[in-house]
Amino acid sequence: MSSLRAAHFFRIQRKMIKMKTITTLTAVLAVLTAGNMAYAGGDAEKGAKVFKKCKACHKIGEGAKNSLGPVLTGVVGRPIASYEGYNYSSGMKTFAEGGAVWEEANLATFLADPKGTVPKTKMTYKGLKKETDIADVIAYLASVQ
Ligand code: HEC
Repeated sequence: MSSLRAAHFFRIQRKMIKMKTITTLTAVLAVLTAGNMAYAGGDAEKGAKVFKKCKACHKIGEGAKNSLGPVLTGVVGRPIASYEGYNYSSGMKTFAEGGAVWEEANLATFLADPKGTVPKTKMTYKGLKKETDIADVIAYLASVQ
């Protein structure tokens, strides 16, 4: 093998190793994200039952429309106060400033104490008391994308 061809060969080798590393990193990331989706051990099936408390004001799933509250399909990972056609309170719009997204932590805080978390929100719901109900309902919300 001429030294030129050898150099070319090694360049390709290096490229392949780089690609392998990227593939591996992507796989690791996917696993980590999937782990995250478990939402602190929340049980989506139990969460579906907890969601009955939300149904008076929120629709979810295929064909859902805004009612008293915004549609909650895909709310986990969605920018706050962003559902099309819903008229959010100024309190919720302020809470959304800076492009914040609904995720496990802020949903848990909000659902435990809506008014305390988002001053002037028009979600007139007292909040969920039990931490397990909160984790379960978040797991349920995350499962309806
Ligand atoms: C009495 C009606 C009512 C009930 C019950 C209710 N909500 Fe709401 N919810 C609202 C309203 C109204 C808003 C809009 C708040 C605003 O704009 O300030 C809202 C907003 C939200 C948002 C923010 C959505 C977004 O697009 O930013 C989430 C998340 C949410 N509710 C989850 C829940 C969950 C989960 C339950 C049940 C545990 C629940 N809500 C129960 C009326 C309700």
